[in-house]
Amino acid sequence: QAATTYEAENATISQGAVESNHAGYSGTGFVNYANATGSYVEFTVTAATAGPATLTFRYANGTTTNRPMAIAVNGATTNRDFPGTGAWATWQETTLTTTLNAGANTVRATATTANGGPNLDRLVLGTPSTGGTPVQANGQ
Ligand code: GCU
Repeated sequence: QAATTYEAENATISQGAVESNHAGYSGTGFVNYANATGSYVEFTVTAATAGPATLTFRYANGTTTNRPMAIAVNGATTNRDFPGTGAWATWQETTLTTTLNAGANTVRATATTANGGPNLDRLVLGTPSTGGTPVQANGQ
């Protein structure tokens, strides 16, 4: 299955705003989480088949303080660190491996500290590498 990009600015946002004042984002902007515990961005991602999948979050954190989030996949939560990236216009990725159902799945990234989450650019759904020939972005 080819990777699929879900832009944060198109997701469901609770306590956050779509902004575009820091360069380097994909799509039309990114989500600036409110500086509050419990602020979240929720994606609905579609998997062709049930099984293992990778979720890659692209984010920026221009502070030197980690902004951890609880990543809930269909309600099952994993805590993930989103440490400082050096600048608000410096974007990095963090990937977690999970298991998805065939069809629609809910992925909610919730800030667990009063600083809120990092700025969130997007979520990319992919399939874990099996060690075989890498699949290129163009599908070849
Ligand atoms: C700054 C920055 C925002 C960021 C915010 C924060 O205001 O410009 O993009 O979201 O800090 O600390 O969350």
